[in-house]
Amino acid sequence: MNTATMNRNANHASTAPAFLSVWDLHAYYGESYIVQGVTFNVHEGEILALLGRNGAGKTSTLRAIARLSEPEARHGEIWLDHQPLHKMASHQASAAGLALVPEDRRIIPGLTVEENLKLAQIAPPVGWSLDRLYDLFPRLGERKNQEGVTLSGGEQQMLAIARALARDIKVLLLDEPYEGLAPVIVDEIEKTLGLIKEQGITTILVEQNAVRALKLADRAVILDTGGIVFDGTAEEVLNNAELRAEYLAI
Ligand SMILES: Nc1ncnc2c1ncn2[C@@H]1O[C@H](COP(=O)(O)OP(=O)(O)O)[C@@H](O)[C@H]1O
Ligand SMILES: [Mg+2]
Repeated sequence: MNTATMNRNANHASTAPAFLSVWDLHAYYGESYIVQGVTFNVHEGEILALLGRNGAGKTSTLRAIARLSEPEARHGEIWLDHQPLHKMASHQASAAGLALVPEDRRIIPGLTVEENLKLAQIAPPVGWSLDRLYDLFPRLGERKNQEGVTLSGGEQQMLAIARALARDIKVLLLDEPYEGLAPVIVDEIEKTLGLIKEQGITTILVEQNAVRALKLADRAVILDTGGIVFDGTAEEVLNNAELRAEYLAI
């Protein structure tokens, strides 16, 4: 990270150079200006909840961090462990250690659970072994020869997360992993996210289920109309009824 960037980051949230820094990110869908100057830091090994109402810009922010072509990031810097992601294409950001698990999970049809995982391991550096992934998600081990798209919603979410870990990643970006899942399955995935954290992976968790996300997260950032309106600890949000009512409707 160059000195200018460090100084700019020092104006926000933390004084230590963060593991993942998003600085003054602006992104557009065509002429629609959606991500309007987003700045936040994520520390190594923490779970950061990225929250906000429907349409606040959470998905767009994750996609811009992952360097996907839409929305188009036209300004800002993204640093991951001293690597300038803002200068990279999405496949390079991915090779630098970033994995986005999109809301629709994107399980590849026609492939078994194991084939979906092996496909993620084609290009080095390979991440977690199949054994380690099946230890983390025993349900996937039991269903390794089943076609991925025939799994239940919760199991597909597990497969999508496992596939991210099958590559050598530093940061996991999760877009509404609990969506549409029964509370007992959410419990299971939540427990797994805790185990993934213990392995040193840094996570940004976007969730509509803000209470759940805040109970798991170390810190929280709240987005509203494409800008940050809160940056602090998860506990501060849980204890602030006004903030919760205004931006999270809880
Ligand atoms: N592909 C797109 N083209 C144009 N506008 C979009 C597109 N995707 C999302 N938007 C708009 O961007 C804003 C933020 O959307 P999004 O990032 O999906 O919010 P969230 O994930 O917080 O619900 C919304 O106003 C949405 O309508
Ligand atoms: Mg979204």
